Amino acid sequence: MTEATLYDRLGEREGIRAVVDDFYDRLAADDDLGPFFETADMELLRKTQTDFLCEAAGGPETYDATPVREAHLDVPFTPEDIQRAVTLLYESLDAFDVPDEDADTVVQAVAAYEEELLATPEDD
Ligand code: HEM
Repeated sequence: MTEATLYDRLGEREGIRAVVDDFYDRLAADDDLGPFFETADMELLRKTQTDFLCEAAGGPETYDATPVREAHLDVPFTPEDIQRAVTLLYESLDAFDVPDEDADTVVQAVAAYEEELLATPEDD
């Protein structure tokens, strides 16, 4: 018997998109993180984040948008901002009843990019 992949367990693209939509709603509504998204193209971000997580979960999609480091060079995040985003992502995964082990894998896929997210143009 073939074991279901994380992508299957999350409900394939549709399920992952639902989590991403919930996550971006939380980001946009957050007192600390919301201001970062005020002028953002949220529809594009939701789509690229869905591609990113689909690929990370073993789906057929590929993430072809701007590399993560480059995409966030001019966004002045602090480590606390990234921690806050991780907390909100856990909340979204919990809202969709994703089991802890799978939620950890999804969060890890994003948290692994902390250094890239925190990079500034001066680091270049
Ligand atoms: C590691 C997973 C992530 C991926 C793949 C990703 C992807 C992207 C992409 C493709 C863009 C658009 C860049 C462009 O204009 O070309 C972007 C912008 C942005 N991302 Fe992310 N992102 C990730 C994580 C995060 C996290 C954790 C946050 C935390 C709050 C975040 C906040 C933002 C913000 C504020 C912008 C700029 C929006 C704007 O002003 O237009 N991203 N991201």
